[in-house]
Amino acid sequence: MKTLSIGGVKEKIVERTDFPPAKLRKILGKETVAVIGYGVQGRGQSHNMRDNGVKVIVGVRKNGPSWKLAKKDGLKPGKTLFDIPEAVRRGTVVQYLLSDAGQKDQWPVIRDNLQEGSALYFSHGFSVTYSDITGVIAPDNVDVILVAPKGSGTTVRRLFLEGRGINSSFAIDQDFTGRARERCIALGIAIGSGFLFETTFKKEVYSDLTGERGVLMGAIYGLWLAQYEVLREKGHSPSEAFNETVEEATQSLYPLIAENGMDWMYANCSTTAQRGALDWYKRFKKCSKPVFKQLYGKVADGSETRRVLRVNSKEDYRESLEAELKEVRESEMWRIGKEVRKLRPENQSKPKAKKKKAKKKPAKKKAAKKTSAKASAKKKPAKKKAAKKRSRK
Ligand SMILES: NC(=O)c1ccc[n+]([C@@H]2O[C@H](COP(=O)([O-])OP(=O)(O)OC[C@H]3O[C@@H](n4cnc5c(N)ncnc54)[C@H](OP(=O)(O)O)[C@@H]3O)[C@@H](O)[C@H]2O)c1
Repeated sequence: MKTLSIGGVKEKIVERTDFPPAKLRKILGKETVAVIGYGVQGRGQSHNMRDNGVKVIVGVRKNGPSWKLAKKDGLKPGKTLFDIPEAVRRGTVVQYLLSDAGQKDQWPVIRDNLQEGSALYFSHGFSVTYSDITGVIAPDNVDVILVAPKGSGTTVRRLFLEGRGINSSFAIDQDFTGRARERCIALGIAIGSGFLFETTFKKEVYSDLTGERGVLMGAIYGLWLAQYEVLREKGHSPSEAFNETVEEATQSLYPLIAENGMDWMYANCSTTAQRGALDWYKRFKKCSKPVFKQLYGKVADGSETRRVLRVNSKEDYRESLEAELKEVRESEMWRIGKEVRKLRPENQSKPKAKKKKAKKKPAKKKAAKKTSAKASAKKKPAKKKAAKKRSRK
């Protein structure tokens, strides 16, 4: 573990190299990890732990969609797949990965089957932080820990298979056994984290709810939509409006920002783009900061949580959510998006005749590949140059 000064603030960072396989086995070798829930997180985290040599069982409601999916993935009822109460009884670590509304609903079942000394693990601070609303209050005789991957469960699995790792935060809320910390960090590495940074349950949930409602999903879509609509109202074609709003952002600028930062992006664009971006970011910040303050306030006072639980606990919540999602899916912007994405060369099917030709002359195919822009971007020294070229702005 390292203590780093990041922006003048001391932060504790754990890297994968701090927990090599032998150390993981020593800490988790005797544990049975019961993963409760087989949604995106339950599925991704359980597969990664299994591949890291951890004994994993899964607990979900019998014959529900998750039960069927787990069976399809090769889990065996009575051996590695159980109903929820049985899995909790068998687990020495209970990873509570139902949906947040499901966690409130099933809490009495979990509480009544937890064994003394078990570790109760969450991937979100939600249920514990808002315990006055969720009723999730852990008994005194268990550890309460958190590992929250900063990304989808699909990414957790995908990065692991690529030999990379997701960034996750970790937190300890209750240490009954005296081993809560080592258990938490070892589990964090076992589920596929590349590095872990320390937080609290409260800070995790406040930042997470703010982020997903804000810049990660809510705010960004609101901004995209506003710009797209203005361009369309002013007579720009759908493909021009979409390219200028989404496609250029995700295909060209965001990967460069991910690689080098927005400061680099600003320094490596045309002076026209520089002048405009430097003037306008301040105006956008000014009008959106009060909205972010309002959002954080609603997260902190529990309004957002009450809304999530009220709406997502309704019998017909899946149907009403689907109606709203359908509206987004069928809006002009995303219908155009589908068409525009099809135009990316990598998404176009190659004519069959060409494939045959390439098979006969493998040497030529190799040569062609080498000269492609993608291949040249992979070469280190050419990378910056290629990246700069792609940054038209
Ligand atoms: N999604 C993410 O990318 C992400 C990222 C970081 C952290 N997290 C956190 O990780 C946890 C799990 O998230 P998730 O997205 O994987 O969950 P999810 O997909 O929303 O959860 C689905 C699981 O919950 C079960 N479930 C829902 N309601 C239930 C109920 N009333 N009784 C029994 N089972 C119920 C489902 O079982 P059935 O199939 O039987 O319905 C399914 O196994 C949450 O705390 C979430 O905040 C998620």
